This record gives sequence, structure tokens and C-alpha cells, in this order.
Amino acid sequence: MSSNPPPPPADSSDGSTGNIFSRYYAQLSHQQNMLQDYIRTTTYQNAMFENTTDFEGSAVLDVGTGSGVLAFFAVQSGARKAYGVEMSDIAIQARKLVKANGMEDKITILKGKIEEVELPEKVDIIVSEPLGFLLVHERMLESYIAGRDRWLKPGGKMFPSNSTIFTAPFTDQALYDETVARGEFWDNDSFMGIDFSCLQEQSNVENFGQPVVGYFHPDILLCEDRASKFVDFHTVTKEEYNEGSAVDAQGQGHVKGNATQVAE
Ligand SMILES: C[S@@+](CC[C@H](N)C(=O)[O-])C[C@H]1O[C@@H](n2cnc3c(N)ncnc32)[C@H](O)[C@@H]1O
Repeated sequence: MSSNPPPPPADSSDGSTGNIFSRYYAQLSHQQNMLQDYIRTTTYQNAMFENTTDFEGSAVLDVGTGSGVLAFFAVQSGARKAYGVEMSDIAIQARKLVKANGMEDKITILKGKIEEVELPEKVDIIVSEPLGFLLVHERMLESYIAGRDRWLKPGGKMFPSNSTIFTAPFTDQALYDETVARGEFWDNDSFMGIDFSCLQEQSNVENFGQPVVGYFHPDILLCEDRASKFVDFHTVTKEEYNEGSAVDAQGQGHVKGNATQVAE
């Protein structure tokens, strides 16, 4: 997951949203943001370098290859062949990188959606960076799973292999007040002669339903316990990862939200 602002979700059910997502990733500046997130990028490279026995002589699929960086890492780790699948026009730039680095016999960039492209062979390993905020934002996990179901050999490996979402209730008076204040616009019975007040309740529903991406001090958590959701990328189905987890608040205070964290 990049520490930069998130892209819009890839909503494959709506072509227009999917196009915004695709245009976002087609820009080198957004690929640069991800590449320059050195913790992210070196973590992926180290994970592959520390598991070269898995990669030696293997065929690898990189789902959502972007600049092609993970496909390069796979070859650096001993892969015989890496297929980088990319839906956006950044695929054109990735091909330039492959050629300029003399890797055309080792890396093939396929432009298209992983749900639709055809590979010449099944693969031993799938690599990808599908982790959005709260794991599922961006909806790329669905594509990671689609790649697995379509192209991974039985017993093949996934990098990353699993993830855990932790969630706990928190209280934050300032954030709460700020959110209430946004809805107060509708508490107006005379906006240019129109009574808006009947829409305030719906406005609050919308505002409190918005995710807030940011950092919270652990002191604002209302209980010691965390609900957790473990997701095994080798086996999870699309339906399963949409399921939630329950948590009971045991601390004192009004619940103002759920703080969540993703660990791999
Ligand atoms: C988070 S970026 C990661 C890019 C690169 N793998 C990296 O680690 O720097 C995800 C990439 O996947 C692509 N992508 C998202 N959904 C896809 C799909 N269904 N099929 C192919 N590519 C997809 C996006 O266009 C984007 O370039």
C-alpha cells in the first residue's frame, strides 16, 4: 500500500469509474509515488530476494504490473519468465523499461485486465501489490484473486500470501464535532427561501459513513481488544473477504468510529 493519497476504487461494475482508475494509474507521477515509497518497494524486493528458491526457474504473473517493477524483481530473484499484466496505458511505458533493460526475453507486458487477458502458460507464482487502505479499498484484491483462479498452477504461491485487518472502536471529539458541523449546513429553514432542514439527517448519515484515512493515537481506542480478520490469499473467495468482523467496546466514552489497521 502506498502512503500517498489513494486512487479511486476500481469499480469494474461501472465502466466510467473503472476508466478514472485506469487514467490515474496511467500517469508516471502516480507510479513514481509508489516506487518512491521505499518501505513498500524494498519490502517487496526483500520478500522475493529472501525466497529465491521459490523463484528459481519459475513462471511468474505480476497482476497490475504498473511500471513492471515487481516483474523485474521476480526475474532478479531467478524467475525464468515474468508476465506483467496491466490494464492502464502505463503498460506502454513498462514495455519501454523492459526493452531498455534488455529483458524482452524474460519479461512480457500484456496490456489488459487480468480478468480478460490470455497468458501462454499457467504460472508457479503470482506477485502483486493489491493492498488498498483497509486492505480492500481500490478493490484490487478481486483482481488478484481473479488472476489466481485463472492462471495459478495447483499448489502455486502468492506474494503476498495473506493479510490481517485489525479493527477497534475509538472516540475523537474533535473529529466528531467537525463531522456534525458539516451537516449543519442543512439545518436551515430558509436557504434562498427553501427549507432544507428535512435533509440534515441524511447528510449526517452520509458524513458519518465516510471513511477517514489518517493516523490515530492508540490512546483514543476504547478497548484493549481488537477484532481481526485474517485473509489467506491462496484460498479466499470474493464473497468471503466481504464479510465483516464484530467487536465489543469495553472502554468508557461514545463510539465515534472504528480504527482499522492492516498487517501482512
Ligand atoms: C497499486 S498499483 C501497483 C503497481 C506496481 N505493481 C507496483 O508495485 O509499483 C496497481 C496497478 O494495477 C493495475 N490494475 C488494477 N486493476 C487491474 C486489473 N483488473 N487488471 C490489470 N491491471 C490492473 C493498475 O492500473 C495499477 O497500475
